[in-house]
Amino acid sequence: MRIVLVGPPGAGKGTQAAFLAKNLGIPHISTGDLFRANISQGTELGKQAKAYMDAGNLVPDEVTIGMAKDRMAQQDAQSGFLLDGFPRNVVQAEALDEALKADGVKLDAVLDLEVPEDEVVKRIAGRRICRTDSAHVFHVAYNAPKTPGVCDICGGELYQRGDDTEDTVRKRLEVYHSETEPIIDYFRAQGLVVTISALGKVDEVTERAMHALKAEK
Ligand code: AP5
Ligand code: ZN
Repeated sequence: MRIVLVGPPGAGKGTQAAFLAKNLGIPHISTGDLFRANISQGTELGKQAKAYMDAGNLVPDEVTIGMAKDRMAQQDAQSGFLLDGFPRNVVQAEALDEALKADGVKLDAVLDLEVPEDEVVKRIAGRRICRTDSAHVFHVAYNAPKTPGVCDICGGELYQRGDDTEDTVRKRLEVYHSETEPIIDYFRAQGLVVTISALGKVDEVTERAMHALKAEK
């Protein structure tokens, strides 16, 4: 399956993508994780992306689209993928459509995670991420690691993202409403959008998402 996951910052896209990708046997491709891996490795791409991310703005399309296409061209993504954080505006959505058309394939669904803004703020404030490229996600209250500061899955160090400050989160939400929400209408016109509530326990949301995706198949 080829799926796009969309939703505001902190909706739980990364958290759900990890489970959904495993259940569906497809790779989880997160442009945010790819940028963060580039930043921690000190690459040129990471240097270009960092200032935009710290400010809560979108990284320019020419950088983002190339990186996403390169990742989708890898062997493990040939029979499907779960995109998390891409596309994030209409230009990127059109670029994705063109790339898929050139390969003679189509998206199966766009899964839209709906969460009220006050919940998003609580989720982001308590989020802790593993420093490894796997970027395992925890929350100090809702999904606490057994040992504070240590990833349960791989033993990596947990940290708070630099763009998870109150001011940057407000900016990211603003950018979500103005730039990213329009892609929901763009994909709705293609009959691809399924909206689910992302409230409730993590496994309840995964079950809701799997149910919605099966109905789309
Ligand atoms: P990105 O990394 O994509 O961030 P985002 O979209 O802001 O989303 P988040 O990672 O903040 O949240 P999430 O929905 O994944 O939630 P999570 O699962 O962690 O992008 C960061 C930046 O990179 C952008 O601002 C931009 O600069 C740049 N960028 C990336 N892609 C780009 C693109 N295509 N174009 C241009 N620029 C781009 O969950 C949040 C917390 O809640 C966690 O602590 C988790 O444990 C907890 N939680 C999850 N589910 C539940 C639940 N059901 N109940 C309770 N707690 C929960
Ligand atoms: Zn880890």
